[in-house]
Amino acid sequence: MPRYSRILGTGSFLPPKRLSNAELAAQLAVDGIETSDEWIVERTGIRARHFADAGVSSSDLALPAAQAALQAAGVSAEEIDLIIVATSTPDMVFPSTACLLQQKLGVHGGAAFDVQAVCSGFVYALTVADSMIRTGAASKALVVGAEVFSRILDFKDRTTCVLFGDGAGAVVLGACDKPGILATELHADGRHSGILCVPGTVSGGKVLGDPLLKMDGQAVFKMAVSVLEKVARSVLEKAGRQESDIDWLIPHQANIRIMHSTAKKMKLPMERLIVTVDEHGNTSAASIPLALDTAVRAGKVKAGDTVMLEGVGGGFTWGAVLLDF
Ligand code: UT7
Repeated sequence: MPRYSRILGTGSFLPPKRLSNAELAAQLAVDGIETSDEWIVERTGIRARHFADAGVSSSDLALPAAQAALQAAGVSAEEIDLIIVATSTPDMVFPSTACLLQQKLGVHGGAAFDVQAVCSGFVYALTVADSMIRTGAASKALVVGAEVFSRILDFKDRTTCVLFGDGAGAVVLGACDKPGILATELHADGRHSGILCVPGTVSGGKVLGDPLLKMDGQAVFKMAVSVLEKVARSVLEKAGRQESDIDWLIPHQANIRIMHSTAKKMKLPMERLIVTVDEHGNTSAASIPLALDTAVRAGKVKAGDTVMLEGVGGGFTWGAVLLDF
C-alpha cells in the first residue's frame, strides 16, 4: 500500500512581549534612528512584532508550539520518532536545537536535527520529513520553525530591524494511506548568498566578522516575487492540480506587497491569502507554521482544504509544499 504523510495537528507560540511600530520607532529614536509606523505599514504591512526576553532561546519558543501541535494531533511526545527544527537562530553552535527540544519534551532515542535554510527553512524541513515518512524512515514527525531573530538584528539599521520578529510554529506529520502532502519542491542558488546574510562566525573563542543581519531589500524583493510564482506553478503541476484548486495560500510572511503580488499572479482572491505579517513581522523559518496554526485556530483552514505553503529567503533558497489539510 502506498505510504504518504499528512499534517495531524498544528501549534504555535509567540513570546509575550509585543512591540507596535510606534513603540519600536520610539525606542530607535533614542539612538537617533528615524522611522515611523506609516513607513513600516506602507512598505511592508507590518504593524507589530513579538520579541523574546533576554535568555529565552529558540528551543524555549519551540517547546510550547510543539506541545500545542501534539495536543491538536492527539499524539503523545513518546510517539514522535523524528524531530526537525528549522532555525537560523539556534540555541547553540551545537548540539542542534532539535536535540535540545527533544530533551525539553522528555523523549529520547528518535532522530533529531536542525535544518538551516533561513526563511525557507520550514518548507525544507517539511519536505525532508515527508520524504522520511514516505520511505518508512519515520512514522510520526514533529516539524518546527523557531526563531529569535531579535538577537541578530542591527538596531542601528532601520532598513532591516523593523522587519523581523521572534516566534515558533510546529506541525505533527504522520504516516497515512492517502496524501496529505501532495507535492514538494526545493531550490537554492548560492550565487545570491550576499543579498541576505549574517556574515559573522565564531572562531577561537571570538566572533569573527559581523554577526548581525544584512539585507539588500530590493534585490531580495525582486528574487522573491519571481521565484515564488514559478515554484507554486511547478508543485501544482506535479500534483496535477490547478490554481483554482488552492483554498489557502500561506506564503512566507515577509512583506504584504510580495504576498499580494504572488496571490495576484496565481489569480487567487485576497481572501484566500493567509496574512499574519501584520502582527508577527517576519519570523523567518517560524513564519509559515505560525501563519498555518493561526489560520487553523481561526477556523479558516479546515480538514480537506488544499493549502499552498511557500518559502523564500537567505541562501538564496526557495520552495513550496502543496497539501490537503
Ligand atoms: O525573509 C526573507 C525575505 N525578505 C524579504 O522578502 C524582504 C524583501 N524586501 C522588502 O520587503 C523591501 O525591499 C523593504 C521593506 C526591505 C524595503 O522597502 P522598499 O520599498 O524596497 O524601500 P527602499 O529600500 O527602496 O527604501 C526607500 C526609502 C529609502 O530612502 P531614500 O533613499 O528613498 O531617501 C530608505 O532609506 O525608505 C527609506 N527607509 C526607511 N524610512 C523609514 C528604509 N527603511 C526605513 C525605515 N523607516 N525603517
